[in-house]
Amino acid sequence: MRNLVFAANWKMHQAPADAAAFMRTFVGQYARQQDRRVLFFPSAVSLHVVVQAIKERADLEAGVQNIHWEDKGAFTGETSAPLARGAGARHVLIGHSERRHVFGETDEETGKKVAAALRAGLTPTICVGETLAQRERGETLAVVTRQLRAAVAGIDAGVLATTIVAYEPVWAIGTGKNATPADAGEVHSAIRAELRSLVGERGAAVPILYGGSVNRSNVDSLLAASEVGGVLVGGASLDAEQWLAIARSG
Ligand code: PGA
Repeated sequence: MRNLVFAANWKMHQAPADAAAFMRTFVGQYARQQDRRVLFFPSAVSLHVVVQAIKERADLEAGVQNIHWEDKGAFTGETSAPLARGAGARHVLIGHSERRHVFGETDEETGKKVAAALRAGLTPTICVGETLAQRERGETLAVVTRQLRAAVAGIDAGVLATTIVAYEPVWAIGTGKNATPADAGEVHSAIRAELRSLVGERGAAVPILYGGSVNRSNVDSLLAASEVGGVLVGGASLDAEQWLAIARSG
């Protein structure tokens, strides 16, 4: 049976009241499907609302969109992995392209954040992806491989096998352009090969999600592409009806 992952990245949207209304609709209408998990990445201020809404549902999980790599300390404005875990998060996005390109997050920092997440018992979803310029220069696989290796440097192989990877081409995020299933499949197959070389056969179990302008119309063809084990969805996850349709697809 497939072990699909459908992840909603709400970015800087959905205040607690909006999140509560969304979750009432979603949880009320979404029946558990054995072959998949649905993850929610709300803003940290709405995490509590989502955690409460899903507490009776093992198939629905919540996480945060970013963490600091230190466990605690004088880092005004930051959230640590233990704080997120204490607030009910089970997951965290690491190295999302907006963190890398808007906030200047480096490969080295993503590695430290992955280690911090694992120390605290959070499952990292490690985000990788090339810019348009990098794709046009033929560097896609080199960039994605470099980002993945840096994110997992120093992580024990057995633990690495428990993570999630998301391939999100930067040029496809929030632009309405998405990779063709063939393009996505090529990169996902390369990521799978890299995971196998890093952790052997256990690398076969790591879900590799596709992200970038996924919506209810294109999700089925992307899920049919080689090694696509789920989707990470921004804009189309903000509407409960559309997110219901996406989470039931594939
Ligand atoms: P999008 O965002 O679906 O709005 O393109 C995806 C993401 O950034 O995770």
